[in-house]
Amino acid sequence: MQRIYVHPLPVRIWHWINAVGFVAMIATGIQIRYVDLVGLMSFRSAVNLHDWIGFVLIGNFFVWLLFYLFSDRIKVYHPELSPVKHFRGSFRQLQYYGYGIFKGDPNPHHVSAYHKFNPLQSMTYQIIMLLLVPLQFVTGILLWDVKGFSAAVEFFGGVRVVDTVHVLCFIFFVGFIFIHPYLASLAHTPTAHFKAMFTGYEEVEDQPVGAPPE
Ligand code: HEM
Repeated sequence: MQRIYVHPLPVRIWHWINAVGFVAMIATGIQIRYVDLVGLMSFRSAVNLHDWIGFVLIGNFFVWLLFYLFSDRIKVYHPELSPVKHFRGSFRQLQYYGYGIFKGDPNPHHVSAYHKFNPLQSMTYQIIMLLLVPLQFVTGILLWDVKGFSAAVEFFGGVRVVDTVHVLCFIFFVGFIFIHPYLASLAHTPTAHFKAMFTGYEEVEDQPVGAPPE
């Protein structure tokens, strides 16, 4: 095995604050929405916590964004693959997760410093980080002060539309919080990717000399 540095410190700090924050946002969000059914805390405490943690997560998001914008590590999100290769790679990865893994096939993706994500990961993480997370934050800010932002709320179709988008993103993240750790556990040991997100180093099997990176 060799150790490869894949998760620089700002990414690790962002990630774990984000993960804990999202779990807290989901819990307080459920309390706010199902106030008569859930008794985790008072409605007022849930709203206050939801607001404060939400602002922390928005600030934290910029740690991730600015790090990648000003670092050559942004390549991990844009591996130099043609669309055809990207599509083929995604399909191979889907086949592996859906079938190959149960027969003991090797993972078709080989991690290296600038190829830490398989094609499915680089695509889904970008959709999440550049579309769904910002959508969740923007709709959250509008709902935080509906009167103050009334012009913007009206522009997006009114409070019901903004609230519906916020709740749909919430439903997505509830599913994601289960599926993402499950997929992250499919390494050579179940905890290998989790450890890597703490230490920064991924352990990978030595590649035969002359083997292509992908
Ligand atoms: C219980 C919560 C979570 C756990 C245990 C967890 C675990 C992990 C692990 C082990 C990795 C590294 C392996 C991989 O690349 O897939 C990772 C990466 C990542 N996770 Fe999570 N995660 C959690 C929550 C979240 C949430 C809530 C989000 C976004 C809303 C998120 C977004 C990401 C992204 C974008 C990466 C790639 C980071 C990068 O290197 O740029 N995770 N996660």
